[in-house]
Amino acid sequence: MRTATSTRDEGFRVRDEVPLPTSDAPIIAHAVRKDEYPIYVTRTLSRAVEHLVAIVEGAQLAIITDTRVDELYGDALREALDDAGLRHQTYRLSPGEPSKSRTCHDELIDWLAASEISRRDFIVTFGGGVINDTGGYAASAYMRGLRYINLPTTVLAQVDGAMGGKVAVNHSTAKNLIGAFYQPAAVISNVAFLETLDRRNLAAGLAESIKKAIIASPEYWEFINTNAERMMDGDLDALEHLVRSAAEIKTLLVERDPYEEDLRRPLNFGHTVGHPLETLCGYGTLLHGEAVAFGMVVETQIAANRGLLQEPLTDMLGELLRRVHLPDRGGCLPDEVHLGALRHAMLPVARIRDGSFLYVLPERCGSTIIASGVTWEELDTAATQIGVRPCGTH
Ligand SMILES: NC(=O)c1ccc[n+]([C@@H]2O[C@H](COP(=O)([O-])OP(=O)(O)OC[C@H]3O[C@@H](n4cnc5c(N)ncnc54)[C@H](O)[C@@H]3O)[C@@H](O)[C@H]2O)c1
Repeated sequence: MRTATSTRDEGFRVRDEVPLPTSDAPIIAHAVRKDEYPIYVTRTLSRAVEHLVAIVEGAQLAIITDTRVDELYGDALREALDDAGLRHQTYRLSPGEPSKSRTCHDELIDWLAASEISRRDFIVTFGGGVINDTGGYAASAYMRGLRYINLPTTVLAQVDGAMGGKVAVNHSTAKNLIGAFYQPAAVISNVAFLETLDRRNLAAGLAESIKKAIIASPEYWEFINTNAERMMDGDLDALEHLVRSAAEIKTLLVERDPYEEDLRRPLNFGHTVGHPLETLCGYGTLLHGEAVAFGMVVETQIAANRGLLQEPLTDMLGELLRRVHLPDRGGCLPDEVHLGALRHAMLPVARIRDGSFLYVLPERCGSTIIASGVTWEELDTAATQIGVRPCGTH
């Protein structure tokens, strides 16, 4: 039994009287790991900053961003924080996937160590998924964990990357190889940031939403299928609905499996093939969302070949991806992608994972099978059917 009382001048008194174990049972206690955090979706920077100010309660902020986001919104954010009386410092990484690296992580740690940021302060990751992941990983490591808030600025980060507490940097062997499960103190998505996003990044973000629709929500599929062009034109009403719905879906899936032991796994749909594709192309050549889109096509084709599909998902998915200019055929991929190269990129991942892969195979929107026994031959057949070249031939 523990009580804590506040004594005005001396600080906090904490009293404990912990009973010792009364039996020699092998399990002493069940340690609980529980994290809860709010996800806000707003339409203005000022509202986003209001939420942030309420959470940090006067603490100092270490803002981690990239130069592109900083150019667009950095001054406005800092002005709003000044108005709220918050002290802050900013570190800027280069835009894009190559910044999700051990080198940049080390740079961040060095910068934090030289700064006035202390234990009670907050990191604010202000940018796309790369910044949320790299900044979140630095937050997980610095002082054994500093509180952090995600302020995602891309569709991809608002519908997926900023939520769920997976933080990581890449390694030449495999994507996200070095990281942690470390939940943010809050996620604050200001949809108005999406106004300046280019069409390629809008589409890449839609890929992660399409994934959620296929694994978990026919209604979300319907919405995306009906509004894809509006969202590609930057319609903020449609994008806001996209982001809000994604938060609902992801929260539910993560809540039932926060450390990805089982039921969260459908969220990896498209990633078994997508991640190695990113590694083999060199991080940043193919955007994450583009790699996931193509991964979903391959994995859906495997499901079709196994006779699992209960609706014409290969056609539905291909048609939607083509409408938003996401890769749906081998011919859309960089030249270095062929079957041999894909296997070569997947092999180290298989080794790391105890020799096998888990594939997420869809049956219909809202129903997937997590399959461990997919063979290399099934992968080759499916990839060939959708136009991936055999080893190194043009
Ligand atoms: N942690 C997770 O659970 C999770 C989930 C999905 C994806 N991810 C990761 O997210 C990363 C991809 O994220 P991303 O696609 O956001 O990439 P990103 O962070 O590189 O952003 C894409 C580009 O958009 C620019 N940008 C950002 N906000 C902008 C804005 N408002 N206006 C104009 N330009 C803007 C950036 O400068 C960058 O050039 C990948 O590394 C992926 O692995 C993580």
